[in-house]
Amino acid sequence: MKRPIIAGNWKMNNTKEQTKRLIEELKPLVKDAACEVVVCVPFTSLETARKAARGSNIQLGAQNVHWAEKGAFTGEISAAMLAELKVKYVIVGHSERRQYFGETDQTVNLRTKAALKAGLKVILCVGETLEEREAGKTNEVVTRQTIEGLKDISRQEIKSIVIAYEPVWAIGTGRTATAEDANETIKVIRKAVRKLYGRATASSIRIQYGGSMNAKNASELMAMPQIDGGLIGGASLKAEDFAKVVNF
Ligand code: PGA
Repeated sequence: MKRPIIAGNWKMNNTKEQTKRLIEELKPLVKDAACEVVVCVPFTSLETARKAARGSNIQLGAQNVHWAEKGAFTGEISAAMLAELKVKYVIVGHSERRQYFGETDQTVNLRTKAALKAGLKVILCVGETLEEREAGKTNEVVTRQTIEGLKDISRQEIKSIVIAYEPVWAIGTGRTATAEDANETIKVIRKAVRKLYGRATASSIRIQYGGSMNAKNASELMAMPQIDGGLIGGASLKAEDFAKVVNF
């Protein structure tokens, strides 16, 4: 059986002080979770979050990583820097990065490889925009993003990857993909993984759903056979809401 993984994506929210408070609130609420629990916090909160989560089942994640080992990349953070802070997971290719910061399938692939090389696990995000969905291109887009994102990644390395299917039109909008639609598109993503790595990897890789997932709809989404977890934005900022998703 695959262990589901629920990850909070805090995005650009929470100072160190707020981070400490939220994690302290969260700890008792998620301590009996059957799934893996991850919080992906801003870089500036990593150290605080690590200390606050110590001894608990909450794992630490970051929201981006650069592909170079080091050098003249003002404002960027390397995989080794994250690994040193005991970061376990890093989100790569989030649609907000693709949309606002010029992230492409190629840079997503470079970042993924750099993270894996440093021993980090990756939450690789894919998902279509509303325009692409309306043009009937959903399957084509997620297949391309999956194949390009996983380029040159070995069968061994892919064990450290979780894919997050996040339809862009469902992020932060309150519009959730229906559980059936999410399930169908995740099937398409799994098919792309199967073409690259074979059946065993395709069935064992964990694929999350993300996009307005919350305390109310989590159990329905998690009941779908293809959905192995969730990437939670807005609802991860309140301990009670996030805990309800974790304890779906
Ligand atoms: P949301 O964000 O849950 O606020 O829609 C999800 C995400 O962007 O990861």
